[in-house]
Amino acid sequence: MKNIIITGASKGIGYATALNLAKKGHRVFAIARSSSQLEELQKEKYSGEIIPVTVDLTSQSDIDSFITHHINDLKINVLINNAGVLINKPFIESEIKDWMLQLEVNLIAPIFLIKAVKNQFSSDSHIVNIGSMGGYQGSSKFPGLAAYSASKGALSILSECLSTEFAEDGIAVNCLCLGAVQTEMLGQAFPGYQAPTQPEEIGSFIAEFSLTAHNFINGKIIPVALNNPG
Ligand SMILES: NC(=O)c1ccc[n+]([C@@H]2O[C@H](COP(=O)([O-])OP(=O)(O)OC[C@H]3O[C@@H](n4cnc5c(N)ncnc54)[C@H](OP(=O)(O)O)[C@@H]3O)[C@@H](O)[C@H]2O)c1
Repeated sequence: MKNIIITGASKGIGYATALNLAKKGHRVFAIARSSSQLEELQKEKYSGEIIPVTVDLTSQSDIDSFITHHINDLKINVLINNAGVLINKPFIESEIKDWMLQLEVNLIAPIFLIKAVKNQFSSDSHIVNIGSMGGYQGSSKFPGLAAYSASKGALSILSECLSTEFAEDGIAVNCLCLGAVQTEMLGQAFPGYQAPTQPEEIGSFIAEFSLTAHNFINGKIIPVALNNPG
């Protein structure tokens, strides 16, 4: 049984990934703000363990309290930084608070969570950062998504940097740049668009990747999309 932390587990891709991992028999610390949705996740059927943890990832004290109360001296095998927000607004109308929120949740929260967990990682562990095709160099770009895409681009480069810095500790770091998946967030970005992929399908892929890919892949920014350039 591996110890796994996943953020953004209350809905969408994070919910599906957390459930898939618990069905594979692992212990999953499922993080989000919505405690009622995390309780729904906990009520699902699985052979492992789901520990719902209500955390606002923009709060350092919430993160510290999670570590103190749940992690303590436990060894962590996998951290999936999946939580994200998306603000769809033309660049010229965007305000500093929009940019701060995008960066706080999509970039700064993973940074502080990784720092908080760093000493608890096992010597063959894997950090998987969930990026986006919008933040992948050379992909198609869309009006209104500058702040979101820039935050995801920064997350992908952070992954490359940390893979080097953590190599001696046996911690692999990769970034999966997802294409469209049918979730609430997709509806905010592209209202009415029907994605080719469901959360359960990509959740199954992310779960398998997070458990095994660190044996073969490190420091990579990987596009996970059906179209090209995405
Ligand atoms: N769907 C797509 O097409 C797509 C494409 C590319 C990349 N992605 C990426 O995939 C990830 C999951 O996206 P999704 O589509 O599943 O989105 P979603 O359905 O909107 O879910 C977002 C998750 O993030 C959590 N979250 C947001 N702010 C938080 C905060 N301050 N503290 C803790 N948790 C927070 C939400 O939980 P609470 O609201 O309960 O806190 C929720 O569980 C995101 O990083 C997204 O950028 C998605």
